[in-house]
Amino acid sequence: MATVLSLSGSPSATSRTARLLRHLDARLTAQGHEVIPLDVRTLPAAALLGADFSHPAIVRAKALVEQADGVVVGTPVYKAAYSGLLKSLLDLLPQYALTGKTVLPLATGGSVAHVLAIDYALRPVLSSMGAAHIVQGWFTLDKDITVEPDGGVSVAAGAAEALEQVVDQFSAALGHPRTTVLAAAS
Ligand SMILES: Cc1cc2nc3c(=O)[nH]c(=O)nc-3n(C[C@H](O)[C@H](O)[C@H](O)COP(=O)(O)O)c2cc1C
Repeated sequence: MATVLSLSGSPSATSRTARLLRHLDARLTAQGHEVIPLDVRTLPAAALLGADFSHPAIVRAKALVEQADGVVVGTPVYKAAYSGLLKSLLDLLPQYALTGKTVLPLATGGSVAHVLAIDYALRPVLSSMGAAHIVQGWFTLDKDITVEPDGGVSVAAGAAEALEQVVDQFSAALGHPRTTVLAAAS
């Protein structure tokens, strides 16, 4: 049983990324984890854009990251990378905010041309923040995510299977946290 922060970095009010994450949150909850959802777009824009480290909402977001054993980081692909909104929050967290944490990177996008955006853009940022274990991520095409009338989503068969697999790998990794041992400089 672990605590998971499920972070969506889409600025859209009708975000497929956020809905996909909430859909996957249910799978993690069913596996016994406590999942805390956080849509970065709900944080005050002035605090994010003005780098207001001491704003109560930013302090709370930082505390949620600190308390989590694992973090799901979801983003739409914007201009071949992660969203600026996601980066605006990551920039306000401590340099090593992800130390000791297991991280699942997820992206949604409109083109398979950017299927590797997680690996060339997002993963290096997460790694620089000290993530102990960044499990295999997954890029889902927006056309494979259908918004249902109740606000939930259904995911096309092939993509759904792949997502379930990476979520289950993340869940299993949460049970076996890795620790990073830094050798003291001699
Ligand atoms: C400003 C903007 C830039 C985008 N740039 C890309 C891109 O470079 N590559 C891509 O595959 N999709 C791109 N897309 C498509 C989105 O990544 C895709 O529709 C995604 O699922 C949107 O997620 P959301 O509904 O959570 O915001 C872009 C969309 C927008 C609005």
